Amino acid sequence: MSDPFLIGDAMTGGYGKGPDILHGCTIAAEKGEIAVIVGPNGAGKSTAMKAVFGMLNVNSGSVRLDGEDITRLTPQERVVKGMGFVPQTSNIFTSMTVEENLEMGAFIRRDDFRDTMTQIYDLFPILKEKRNQAAGELSGGQRQQVAVGRALMTKPKVLMLDEPTAGVSPIVMDELFDRIIEVARTGIPILMVEQNARQALEIADKAYVLVQGRNAHTGTGKELLADEEVRRSFLGG
Ligand SMILES: Nc1ncnc2c1ncn2[C@@H]1O[C@H](COP(=O)(O)OP(=O)(O)OP(=O)(O)O)[C@@H](O)[C@H]1O
Ligand SMILES: [Mg+2]
Repeated sequence: MSDPFLIGDAMTGGYGKGPDILHGCTIAAEKGEIAVIVGPNGAGKSTAMKAVFGMLNVNSGSVRLDGEDITRLTPQERVVKGMGFVPQTSNIFTSMTVEENLEMGAFIRRDDFRDTMTQIYDLFPILKEKRNQAAGELSGGQRQQVAVGRALMTKPKVLMLDEPTAGVSPIVMDELFDRIIEVARTGIPILMVEQNARQALEIADKAYVLVQGRNAHTGTGKELLADEEVRRSFLGG
């Protein structure tokens, strides 16, 4: 079987010299698909994302992008290879304007990025309206759009999002999910951590439940939504 487009395969590792947080954890994303990672607080979801992005050492296992082993690359080198990452916290520059945030996102590019900015403003029209406002003045949902837009400025081949709908209302969550689906349809695979498990599984082509740094359940979103054990333990029945 051929590799998924992006895979963190059997990753074991933790922070610095601390104990292992991940114990053989695997997460992956296929072309044109949305992969969702859910699980309880402290399960290691963010840690798994950071491991895929190269922010912690994996003692064993590997990370492969488009068939290439990138396990030893720095995060910046991974961005150059085509990874876009929106971390769970501190994902925008609050004192800079919306447009400056997007420009910062293009830091690795030497070409003209105005077309990309236009595409991002088409995807998130509110950002165009507020382009000269400090990002810190925006609502939670709008800030998340800035963060996703900033990551898209590098024209990534794969987009990783850690809780893109954290702290937003259900309506704004639905809107953000619609935009994320739109991005996936352009061919950019999405690897996304979500605390809104039920809604996330509904849009997930592939889904992972992580518990204590391990894969507890894996399947399509539909399969996990129908799984008695997953429903009882993670979806409130
Ligand atoms: N920078 C860090 N240094 C040391 N330990 C950390 C660090 N970040 C997280 N941890 C530990 O790693 C474990 C997993 O945390 P992680 O943030 O990956 O969980 P999570 O599944 O993303 O949780 P949440 O749903 O709350 O975002 C926890 O025990 C946490 O205390
Ligand atoms: Mg987290």
